[in-house]
Amino acid sequence: MKRVVAVLFVFALIVPAGAAENQPAWAFFFPAANQPTAAEPDSAPKQAPGSKLKYTMAQIDDLKNPPDWFPNEHAPMPKVVAHGGPGAVLGCASCHLASGMGHPESASIAGLKQVYMFRQLMDFKNGARRNAILLNGKPQANATQYMVNIAKDLSPEDAKAASQWFSALKPQRNWVRVVEAANVPKSYITRGFMRVALPGGGTEPIGNRVIELPQDVNRQVLRDPHSGTTAYVPPGAIARGRALATSGRACETCHGTDLTGVADVPSIAGRSPTYIFRQLYSFKTGARAGAASMPMQGVTANFNEADMVSLAAYVASLPNS
Ligand code: HEC
Ligand code: HEC
Repeated sequence: MKRVVAVLFVFALIVPAGAAENQPAWAFFFPAANQPTAAEPDSAPKQAPGSKLKYTMAQIDDLKNPPDWFPNEHAPMPKVVAHGGPGAVLGCASCHLASGMGHPESASIAGLKQVYMFRQLMDFKNGARRNAILLNGKPQANATQYMVNIAKDLSPEDAKAASQWFSALKPQRNWVRVVEAANVPKSYITRGFMRVALPGGGTEPIGNRVIELPQDVNRQVLRDPHSGTTAYVPPGAIARGRALATSGRACETCHGTDLTGVADVPSIAGRSPTYIFRQLYSFKTGARAGAASMPMQGVTANFNEADMVSLAAYVASLPNS
């Protein structure tokens, strides 16, 4: 019996690695097969700095009832944002936060145009926007797959209410700090799809990746909307990205002079570089292929992964408003 368990464990380690072969799995948030020792279940009430409210970890991780630490900072939430809806529809504020600023595994959606967000929700729903990482032709369970599953069960009415509410939020300045570094803390993906530093893990070469970590891991797990990330990017990436972004069919032609968006072309400035890379890769591979995404498939056709990491680093380093 012991032997069978050991064999299964090795297999579990191999599957995500297979999915990652020749694919940038680092940007797609697959929980690590072997997790560092889990903390003891903790039922003590928690508090985000500056909030008067208290929630237990069980409440914080209830995705149909996410915490709202600072209810005075936004208009009342529609039901779908606070509590989700039928089937797989979870409360949008759980992953995107009550501020809409989100985490690298999801997306910052605060202040994006309603028409743009609604279009994305319909693209997820009808299969035009998919999970780009495949194993034997099948999408693998990861953070992006969650969003796909939610959109499949989301009604057009709820999609409209949620996208309207998030579009009225103002993006928070300096939510992401972009730092060039040759070596970065070793990290892993938790079962909750967050990338966090490996306790006592030392450092490793960054390689051709963005390693985006919580500025304060304790606050990130509380879904504290006042605590953002530090995104490590390869040395020289920002300048390289600036050169790529301003040559040829420059990004600003469509995304606006400061890249904060024009009409239904979304803002890309100051957003998570992990998210931005994931989208560029998804356009290039055709996993994101809605009718409106055709210009982006042309834009990304000749970029390699290093180019896309550099572009993501550059646009993330710009002010988001
Ligand atoms: C379990 C976590 C989770 C929940 C809950 C969730 N999302 Fe998402 N959402 C994601 C992830 C992950 C992505 C990024 C997908 C990708 O990688 O392309 C995303 C992306 C999006 C995008 C695309 C953003 C862009 O810039 O194109 C929109 C819009 C969105 N979500 C809206 C919603 C709405 C509305 C709800 C509530 C009905 C919701 N989400 C609930 C995880 C979640
Ligand atoms: C010809 C117009 C055009 C150009 C040039 C262009 N974009 Fe886009 N971009 C778009 C459109 C339109 C969308 C929205 C696609 C959709 O709705 O799916 C988009 C979406 C994106 C997204 C996804 C944002 C999100 O919220 O998910 C990223 C990232 C992006 N563009 C980056 C870039 C970068 C970097 C450049 C320059 C190298 C660039 N774009 C140049 C038209 C353009």
